[in-house]
Amino acid sequence: MSDKRREKLLPVTHWPTEEEARASRWFTPLSLGPVTAATRTWVPAMVPWRSNEAGEVTPEVIAWYERFARGRPGVLVVEATGIRDVPSGPLLRAGDERCVEGLSRLVAAVKAASGGETKVFIQLIDFLAIKRRPTREAFLSRFLEVTPRLRAALGLTDDAAVRAHLLTLDEDALRSLLPARDFEAMRMGLRERVTDTHLPHIEGLPRTLPSLFAAAAQRCARAGFDGVELHFAHAYTMASFLSARNTRADGYGGSREHRVRLPLEVFRAVRAAVPASVAVGCRFLADEIIDDGNRAHDAAFFGVEFARAGMDFLSLSRGGKFEDAKQPKVGASAYPYTGPSGHECMPTTKLAVPWGRNVQAVEEVKRAVLGAGFATPVVLCGGIATFEQAEALLERGSADAIASARQSLADPDWFLKLRTGRGAELRRCLFTSYCEGLDQAHEVVTCQLWDRLKGLPDDATAARTDDGRRLLAPEWEPGPSPSK
Ligand SMILES: Cc1cc2nc3c(=O)[nH]c(=O)nc-3n(C[C@H](O)[C@H](O)[C@H](O)COP(=O)(O)O)c2cc1C
Ligand code: SF4
Repeated sequence: MSDKRREKLLPVTHWPTEEEARASRWFTPLSLGPVTAATRTWVPAMVPWRSNEAGEVTPEVIAWYERFARGRPGVLVVEATGIRDVPSGPLLRAGDERCVEGLSRLVAAVKAASGGETKVFIQLIDFLAIKRRPTREAFLSRFLEVTPRLRAALGLTDDAAVRAHLLTLDEDALRSLLPARDFEAMRMGLRERVTDTHLPHIEGLPRTLPSLFAAAAQRCARAGFDGVELHFAHAYTMASFLSARNTRADGYGGSREHRVRLPLEVFRAVRAAVPASVAVGCRFLADEIIDDGNRAHDAAFFGVEFARAGMDFLSLSRGGKFEDAKQPKVGASAYPYTGPSGHECMPTTKLAVPWGRNVQAVEEVKRAVLGAGFATPVVLCGGIATFEQAEALLERGSADAIASARQSLADPDWFLKLRTGRGAELRRCLFTSYCEGLDQAHEVVTCQLWDRLKGLPDDATAARTDDGRRLLAPEWEPGPSPSK
């Protein structure tokens, strides 16, 4: 689809004058427990793959967040950051004391670039091991464990003969013969689950995770972050504990009361580890989208429990699961944003209506939290890219803050443009899968629109990726005041 056609699919909208923006709800302050955000505008976590193999804050990481901060969002959430100091590619880490210095520089850069206005939070994540998809040959001849059951099923006693026979079978025959997990490991790559309690490190997660999250959060607090967002969403460890598919039998799976137990224990450990001046909340799913997953009524139950426990904010996302991800290419890992749940998480114009797909589910959570007597702020995200959408949602009481990820990536100045009545100068996100594709490939994330602008004063000098893409959104020079 051409950009012109995509532009036509964007909602027709009216951009506010400066006075309208000033009188709006989106640009009014919001209390998040101990922290007050100057506006209800929010840039949610986005991994830009600009750290290094040691998970450090690089100059590119700083430049990325400074660029967002210049648009002065109320809250800017730093990307999913690992709580363990383990190799995880160029993903930011908070798993060791050595991380504090870089994270402090990052906080200082955001504060300086936003004139002290933007509150800077950090998202903390834990994830389980996932292996790349092997070739069929490598899997059947080496990785697959040949069990007595398999030998008996084939009437063969020799492991080499079993493997040789398996190599002659087609996919359907293998599907019916191999245990489901082995067949999946061959097709998708081996992936650990929270239900793999035969593995000691997974059985022990309820004992290890609270202190790991607490120690990482404490480092982030020392680095100066205003808030910590616990990543309880998408495909990762904590979301898998909350998931309706979590069947652990040790009191941390099965019923909703048991599934929410570890997330609450993690929250309490974090709350106790950071000063009272730091906001602590979480991001979780308003709907898992996958079959047999949590629906909005489950999210409403979790929201009430989180509010009751004293969380300072509840940020809601949607989908983004491994269970329905597409088969990766050989040598690549499964990516949780490629199946139906992934398309709900980062909706594109391939969907008939990509706008506001999470609204109904978030409203259900908000209603339940309010109904239980809690005023805990709820953050709504997903396909929101105009002032009118955000303002209508706040007016209706659907949520208390409105987050925009890709629109903020396409134009990090957009909040400032809206506030100053310069909406006409806005660069509108086309809701493609371009930036998400870069994320999938673990390549430095940029926006395709930044490279389509020709004749900019800094064209020759702008920092670029190895393959020639602009590393940062072009600078914005405000035009003449629109009111004159
Ligand atoms: C490049 C990229 C990286 C992302 N990384 C994260 C992340 O680290 N943590 C997270 O919770 N969501 C992540 N997301 C999801 C966004 O925060 C957001 O929920 C999603 O893009 C839908 O919002 P939007 O329609 O406003 O873009 C990422 C999205 C993109 C495009
Ligand atoms: S690359 Fe991402 S941010 Fe840029 S227009 Fe496409 S979807 Fe929007």
